[in-house]
Amino acid sequence: MKKLIIAVVLGAVSLSAAAQDNSISEKQLEARQIAKQFLGSLKPELGKAMKSGGPVFAVGKCHKISPEIAQKLTESTGWNVKRVSLKPRATTANPDNWETSTLKWFNEQAASGKDVTKLEKFEIVKVDGQDTYRYMKAIPTGDICLTCHGTAVPANVTQKLQELYPSDKATGYHKGEIRGAFSFKQPKL
Ligand code: HEC
Repeated sequence: MKKLIIAVVLGAVSLSAAAQDNSISEKQLEARQIAKQFLGSLKPELGKAMKSGGPVFAVGKCHKISPEIAQKLTESTGWNVKRVSLKPRATTANPDNWETSTLKWFNEQAASGKDVTKLEKFEIVKVDGQDTYRYMKAIPTGDICLTCHGTAVPANVTQKLQELYPSDKATGYHKGEIRGAFSFKQPKL
């Protein structure tokens, strides 16, 4: 009897997941892929830099390659590609109104126990009178992030961060919290 109930519940879950997938537009899938590409280009480089040169070196590396990756993806995909945060480090990471409310919504979802690795939002929004695809995907804080975004950032790392980002707000995070989000937009033609 117990087995049957579990099977029924699983069936319901996979059915609703399938229904959801059908309602996902190609544009949303495209945006998801770009988020994957961004992460796939940045994370291994960051890991390598941490191992080979330590965190201060890795700050410099991240400073150099993050904007480069965003720029390359913007050119190659036709989407405007960036990362944003409610507590930004880079000045380019300041969120606009839609991004701010989405980041707050992500935080609420996280607080209510939702899986932070799956939080995303896709919407068609008017930007300056133009229908625009907008997509955001939450970026959770993992262990490796804490050296540069956590509550006990080493003094030499803080110094390097202050040099490069005098108005840095991106510290004080705990593992599992949402550090920020990928944010992409493209005019709907
Ligand atoms: C070696 C230090 C370092 C580590 C480790 C690190 N970051 Fe960062 N992070 C930075 C720097 C530097 C920037 C600013 C990059 C730029 O100039 O665009 C940044 C920017 C960001 C941004 C863009 C928003 C903003 O505030 O500028 C996000 C999101 C982010 N980091 C998330 C993470 C996550 C998640 C991890 C762990 C997987 C992580 N970071 C690990 C140094 C680091």
